[in-house]
Amino acid sequence: MAFETILVETRGKVGLITLNRPQALNALNSALLGEVNQALDAFEADDGIGCIVITGSEKAFAAGADIKEMASLTYPHTYMADFFSGWEKVSGRRKPMIAAVAGFALGGGCEFAMMCDFIIAADNAKFGQPEIKLGVMPGMGGTQRLTRLIGKAKAMEMCLTGRMMGAEEAERSGLVARVVPVADLLDEAMKTAQTVASMSLPIAMMTKETINRADEVSLAEGIRFERRLFHAMFATADQKEGMAAFVEKRAADFKNR
Ligand code: HXC
Repeated sequence: MAFETILVETRGKVGLITLNRPQALNALNSALLGEVNQALDAFEADDGIGCIVITGSEKAFAAGADIKEMASLTYPHTYMADFFSGWEKVSGRRKPMIAAVAGFALGGGCEFAMMCDFIIAADNAKFGQPEIKLGVMPGMGGTQRLTRLIGKAKAMEMCLTGRMMGAEEAERSGLVARVVPVADLLDEAMKTAQTVASMSLPIAMMTKETINRADEVSLAEGIRFERRLFHAMFATADQKEGMAAFVEKRAADFKNR
């Protein structure tokens, strides 16, 4: 597949998408959204892919939704086109997705990173929701996901002032899983993704689904959901293999069954 705004490759069991609009600091326009979804469709359909990594450049993961594309939009258009709803397809993916973020992750860039299952950040990463300076607010889930990840006080401060948060503060606040030197970012993210991809894919997918439930339902409902899928895992060959491998002191060889 030939893409204009992203680069796509497969390394072992990991699918890698690199945002590639350097002239616009990877601003997220509608062409890029379409191509990301096309690439994700292909990775989700490929049984050989167990984890997906999304990254940008050293300077910018993405500096936001494309302001030049949005500037002249009208309310009737955004409403009728359900503008930005295509991002729900991205956030609804079932395979594990890791964002590897260096440089600016602003506005929609920060929101895109938060749609992934976790973020590994370079030490030069800068996160922010500066939409208020443009006369709007986050429109791709930022008000909800940022608040769940870092709490109301910091989410309010960031969305109401537009200030950026550095990598160290982002790790301390729970926005990112880990910070690594910028030169090591892709290697570290790929290594982490290979680890995830070496597990049983159905088990990893059920784990992702169950953790995401925590944002949707009460604790009691979430625990019930967890227990149901936990029980279901005993119907898989991979549970038998994983536990047999432990007892026999060897590496597990999961078959995604
Ligand atoms: C379109 C963008 C862009 C964006 C940068 N560019 N961000 N184009 N949309 N979001 C373009 C610039 O216009 C410029 O193109 C080129 O990328 C390089 O950017 P510079 O500003 O020259 O770089 P620098 O001085 O290093 O500043 C970097 C920056 C700044 C601090 C990240 O670019 C910036 O503030 N960008 C906007 C960040 C932002 O507001 N994001 C939120 C967008 S709204 P030219 O052609 O001039 O060289 C959003 C969600 C909206 O994401 C949801 C509500 C509906």
